[in-house]
Amino acid sequence: MAQMRQEMIEIVRFDQVGLRYPGRQVLQNLSFSLRIGSFHFLTGVSGAGKTSLLKLIYRGIIATQGSVKVFGKDVSRIKTSTLPIFRQRIGLVLQECSLLSHLNIVDNVALALTITGARLNMARGQAIELLQWAGLGDYLKSKPTTLSDGQKQRVAIARAVITRPLILLADEPTGHLDHDAATRLVHLFQELNRIGTTILFATHSRTLVADFPYPELHLSHGQLITNSSHQSGSRSYA
Ligand SMILES: Nc1ncnc2c1ncn2[C@@H]1O[C@H](COP(=O)(O)OP(=O)(O)OP(=O)(O)O)[C@@H](O)[C@H]1O
Ligand SMILES: [Mg+2]
Repeated sequence: MAQMRQEMIEIVRFDQVGLRYPGRQVLQNLSFSLRIGSFHFLTGVSGAGKTSLLKLIYRGIIATQGSVKVFGKDVSRIKTSTLPIFRQRIGLVLQECSLLSHLNIVDNVALALTITGARLNMARGQAIELLQWAGLGDYLKSKPTTLSDGQKQRVAIARAVITRPLILLADEPTGHLDHDAATRLVHLFQELNRIGTTILFATHSRTLVADFPYPELHLSHGQLITNSSHQSGSRSYA
């Protein structure tokens, strides 16, 4: 019973996780958990394994040691046929936002919902609301190529959250942005976090980490070093 309750509050749990690519051990002995509603930064130098760790969560790759549980389930046991349903509950924001250049931003965002079976009109309505929330109300008819990098990232956030994911994984979304644009982007993530979305935000930027009161999962030499100096009572590590 106690274990069930624990699983309900932990959205992600790594137990002794290792990851080996051919010829290279990238991650080892990672044990940590993310509680529902938490916000963490994921840091580490280039090549430390941040993207790999995020991939382990959405089962882009499978751990070579240990267990990864997401929403209480061992991800290695998810059948390929049910992977799309599993991934609908995970929002992804990547550094290269890969928006479709021939569609305006409303349709770029709406598409993420229509592929789950929603009707186009309804999806467009929600996309417009989200884009307005993201400060892009004046750009609804614009194609992605006419937007700045920060604006594109805001479209990518709207696209990632239109399916109402439980957790949002961001892989260096601020990599190309100046400090002010990066800060504005983190504010959007903060708003999502306030309404309950769990956030894991990979970044190189020490300034961002210093500017916001969230705990840091730091990868170094394949291991996890947790800096909980900012940690509030609602967050935990194993
Ligand atoms: N598909 C792969 N096959 C083999 N090695 C890989 C593969 N993907 C990543 N690696 C290696 O794993 C290590 C971690 O890569 P990863 O992309 O997770 O790092 P990162 O922390 O996200 O780096 P960056 O900050 O540059 O994005 C690197 O040494 C990389 O070369
Ligand atoms: Mg990376």
